[in-house]
Amino acid sequence: MSRKLRLTALAGALAMGLVACGGSGAGSSSSAGESAAPADQTIGVSMPTQTSERWIADGNAVKDQLEKKGYKVDLQYANNDIPTQSQQVDQMITQGEDLLVVAAIDGTALSSQLQAAADAGIPVISYDRLIRDTPNVDFYVSFDNYKVGVAQGTALLTGLGLLNKDGSKGTATGPFNIELFAGSLDDNNAGFFFNGAVDTLKPYLDDGTLVVKSGQTSIEQAATLRWDQETAQKRMEDLLTKSYNDGSKVAGVLSPYDGISRGVITALQNAGYGPTLTSQPLAMPVITGQDAEIASVKLINDGVQSSTVFKDTRTLAAQAVTAAEAFLKGDKPEANDTKTYDNGQKVVPSYLLPIQTVYKDDIQKVLIDSGYWTADEVAKGQAG
Ligand code: GAL
Repeated sequence: MSRKLRLTALAGALAMGLVACGGSGAGSSSSAGESAAPADQTIGVSMPTQTSERWIADGNAVKDQLEKKGYKVDLQYANNDIPTQSQQVDQMITQGEDLLVVAAIDGTALSSQLQAAADAGIPVISYDRLIRDTPNVDFYVSFDNYKVGVAQGTALLTGLGLLNKDGSKGTATGPFNIELFAGSLDDNNAGFFFNGAVDTLKPYLDDGTLVVKSGQTSIEQAATLRWDQETAQKRMEDLLTKSYNDGSKVAGVLSPYDGISRGVITALQNAGYGPTLTSQPLAMPVITGQDAEIASVKLINDGVQSSTVFKDTRTLAAQAVTAAEAFLKGDKPEANDTKTYDNGQKVVPSYLLPIQTVYKDDIQKVLIDSGYWTADEVAKGQAG
């Protein structure tokens, strides 16, 4: 090889090296995936909060699964604080991370960050909660959120005895007083859960079998900012004081999330419901939930909470990882829903996973046998 040729080859190799280095930097992700090894690629994972154990499980599952494949992971939690999350996502972009996985606190608050991500060519996967009002979200991984609501409505009807577990008509007749809780209105999922549940309850509300005694039936009235347990407890206390001071009883509470259910349960227990606090207790109402958080699985096992909707965070994490790998290889991830999730700017291609309702009888098979929780954790009501 002549000296000139050798120099040219060297220059070429350097240039390629630079391209490969660029692979771990901003703007490179869609094309650099083929040349960059996973070890050169960092994935930013932005999670809302560590106050709920489900997000800790999600964050850990995404991190572990990506690291097993050789990627670097920058996992951040934002304490349910919108500016903190915006700042963390900003930083992931300026640090030149290759792809972002984001579970937003407020689904509409990240538009400028995601514009910067798009300008830098960084793909964005919306994790469980759809990011709204921006064209710069590339993919959505979640569960079938409307079906979660249907499952919660169905579980309330089943718990009250209006339906049997197989869906056939139960022996109970009502009328039953119920109260409705919804999630945080800035989370796109809240509407899907509430609509799925209320659509399911509607025939029973229409014919008077179910009565929302407080009259608070709109999602705005039922909402719980940030899905916060204490906020839910306070609202339940207010409902009991204002609408149940005439000796009437609450028979059921629609709750969209285990943390909210725990707040509701505390309020009810303080008012004398449940087997533990008074000698002549009012029966604990039928209370639904979601996420199979360990404290709530124990409450279900103890007969305090009626049900939860289990969403396996391990499979959601796996789906996020599959989608991330596809983007990093320059491919498009496989979607199984391209119609439902309009974020106000575009319909975001989605991969939706199935859900499962868990009553006391299902804990062993669905949660323990699958290795999600151990029998010991269920007995203690604590992870680890
Ligand atoms: C929702 C999520 C629920 C629950 C809730 C509160 O976005 O879909 O499963 O976790 O947030 O964290």
